[in-house]
Amino acid sequence: MALKRRLQGVVPPELLDKVPTSFEVVGSRGGAVAIVEIPPELEQYKHKVAEAIVGMNKHVKAVLRKMGGRTGDYRLYNFEVLIEGPTEVLHREHGYYIKVDPTKVYFSSRDQTDRLDVARRVGEGERVLYLFAGVAPYAIAIAKFAKPRLIVAVELNPWGFRYMVENFRINKIRNAVAVHGDVAEVGPLFRKKFDRVILTLPLGAYRYLPLALDCLEKGGVVHFYHTGKAEDPYREAEEIVRGVCPDCQIVGRRVVRDYAPGVYKVRVDVYKR
Ligand SMILES: C[S@@+](CC[C@H](N)C(=O)[O-])C[C@H]1O[C@@H](n2cnc3c(N)ncnc32)[C@H](O)[C@@H]1O
Repeated sequence: MALKRRLQGVVPPELLDKVPTSFEVVGSRGGAVAIVEIPPELEQYKHKVAEAIVGMNKHVKAVLRKMGGRTGDYRLYNFEVLIEGPTEVLHREHGYYIKVDPTKVYFSSRDQTDRLDVARRVGEGERVLYLFAGVAPYAIAIAKFAKPRLIVAVELNPWGFRYMVENFRINKIRNAVAVHGDVAEVGPLFRKKFDRVILTLPLGAYRYLPLALDCLEKGGVVHFYHTGKAEDPYREAEEIVRGVCPDCQIVGRRVVRDYAPGVYKVRVDVYKR
């Protein structure tokens, strides 16, 4: 692996196996941030790891070390800054742009394939409600690759809302509306008004599944996100769906990506009869 190779002769041989096998890069040519997980055994070599990352990608101007998992309502990491630099970046994905500062608002470049998969399911003229929208990457993918009539995106974090508005502007999206608010309060205003609801909150979306179904007209679909153990990734998500809506039909299933060791982030597509 490239990072390990670069650190040969810098990190003692017995610790080379602890060198991370990957890191996330958010941003593009104009500047990028690298986000990396470094185990405690490499504490004294963390700056060397960061320098090696910058050496591997000339667009990376800042290196952040993840300290633990995502926390709080806004689902943010605590970061230790290893190399200081601008953290607001313009991320390019599938030909569109996403402005984001990963220290202020949730964003994961690793969800990009799922965004395309959702976008290609959106029919012409659909009304899409996007709950827990962050900087609205799914809305941008849908607006770019499908022909929805309307997208309404709801986000609580004021930074998420700001970047969402900016991202609609940058990508010249005119049929999307950004809403700054709590899904629990705003959601009920949209009863039976949508053809599709996207529920992108893997930890806790199940509490909002009844509300999401309520926002759908009959014949609509909810993209419901959850986590599942690798040996049977959809079991828990499907049990939740059956418990909330015995009449609904599951019309799609997808492993979005790894979530934690032995755990996947999954998507289950729920059709309301
Ligand atoms: C897992 S992130 C997904 C963000 C975005 N959909 C994406 O894929 O990049 C969940 C988002 O929901 C927001 N959030 C959490 N609780 C919320 C609530 N009650 N109402 C609205 N947004 C909320 C968080 O701030 C966070 O941006």
